[in-house]
Amino acid sequence: MKKNQTILAIETSCDETAAAVLSVDITQKFPKIKTLSSIIKSQIKLHAKMGGVVPDIAARAHLKYIRPVVTKALKDSKVRITDLDYIAVTQGPGLIPSLLVGVEFAKMLSLATGTPLLPINHMAGHLYSPFTEIRHPQNLFPMVSLIVSGGHTMIVVMKDSKNYTVVGHTVDDAAGEAFDKVAKLLGLPYPGGPIVSRLATKIKKTSFEFPRPMVHSKDYNFSFSGLKTAVLYHVQDLKLKIEDSRTKSEICKAFEDAVVDILAIKTLRAVKEYKAKSVSVTGGVSANTALQKRFQKDCKENNLKLFFPKKGLSTDNAEMIGIAAAFALANKVKIQPTKKVIANPNLAL
Ligand code: KG4
Ligand code: ZN
Repeated sequence: MKKNQTILAIETSCDETAAAVLSVDITQKFPKIKTLSSIIKSQIKLHAKMGGVVPDIAARAHLKYIRPVVTKALKDSKVRITDLDYIAVTQGPGLIPSLLVGVEFAKMLSLATGTPLLPINHMAGHLYSPFTEIRHPQNLFPMVSLIVSGGHTMIVVMKDSKNYTVVGHTVDDAAGEAFDKVAKLLGLPYPGGPIVSRLATKIKKTSFEFPRPMVHSKDYNFSFSGLKTAVLYHVQDLKLKIEDSRTKSEICKAFEDAVVDILAIKTLRAVKEYKAKSVSVTGGVSANTALQKRFQKDCKENNLKLFFPKKGLSTDNAEMIGIAAAFALANKVKIQPTKKVIANPNLAL
C-alpha cells in the first residue's frame, strides 16, 4: 500500500453542497491528514427567504451543484478521478431528499471507477473535525465532545480515537435550531446563530434573564424549546419595543448567555464523571465567540486541553467527512459493497 491515500469526500446532508479531496497517511491510528481542496456551495440565500431550510428546494439545488462542486474539488486538488483511493459520503443523519443526491452521486462515481465507497455518519464528521488541530495525540482520552449543530446537540465520550459513546442529547430542539428560532422571533434572517451572536456582542449588559432548562438534571440531556418559548413570551410582552435595536441586542445576549451556560455546565459535569483529559466543541454553534470564550476559561481553570475545529470546519463541510473517513480507515473498518450503501436520514452515531 502506498503511504498516502487520497479520499474524495462528499457532503449533502442539509443545505451545503460540499466536496473535498484529502491526502491521508492511514498507517497510524491517528492518521496524518492533508486537505488538498475543499469546496462548499452554500444554499443559505435560497432558504433565507423561507426562514429555514426547505427540503425539496435543497435537493434541487444539490442536484444542480453536485457535479460542478465535485469537479472543482478534484481540479483544485490536482488529483485525477481515476487516481482516487476512496470515496467517502455522508450517509446520514439529515434530510432524505438532500442525502439521496450525495449518496447516489457517490455510488455512481464509485461503481464507474471501481473506487471503494465509505459511508460516513455526519455526526462523526463533526466529532472528528477538530482532530486535524491535534499535534500531539498523547494524553487526550477520555475526551468529552460537545456537538452543537442546527439539527443535533449531544455529548459524546471518546475512550480513544475509535471508540465512543453518546451520553446525552437534546430531548427537543437543537442548540443551533434554538438560535435560528429566536432569530425568527426577532425578525432576523436565517441562519440565526451568526446574527444573534453579532447583536449580543454589541452590548456588555442585559436586563433580561432567561431560564436554563434541565441544567441541573442528573443526566446529560438538553432541552432548548422552553428557552425559546421564554424568549417568545418576552417578545410578545414587549410588542413595539422590540423594534428598538438595544432591546433586540439585550434579548440576544440574555438568550446566548443562557445557551452558553447550559452547554458549559453540562459538559464540565461530564468531564468530571468520565475523568476526561480533554474537551472538544464542534458543529455550527461551536463558531460562536461567547461559547468559545466560556469553554476556554472553564477548561483553563480545570487544566483540560480544549479543541475546536479550525475556521470553516464548524459549519457543514466535506473536509470533516474526509477526516472521519481517514479515522475509519486507520481503524480498519470493514468496507461494504457500494451497492449496499443506502442513505439513512435517522442514522444514529
Ligand atoms: O453544523 P451545522 O452547519 O449544520 C447542521 O449539521 O445542523 O450547524 C448550523 C447551525 C445553525 O443553526 C446556525 O444558526 C448555527 O449552526 N450557527 C451558530 C453560529 N454559526 C452558525 N450559532 C451560534 N453562533 C454562531 N456564530
Ligand atoms: Zn452538521
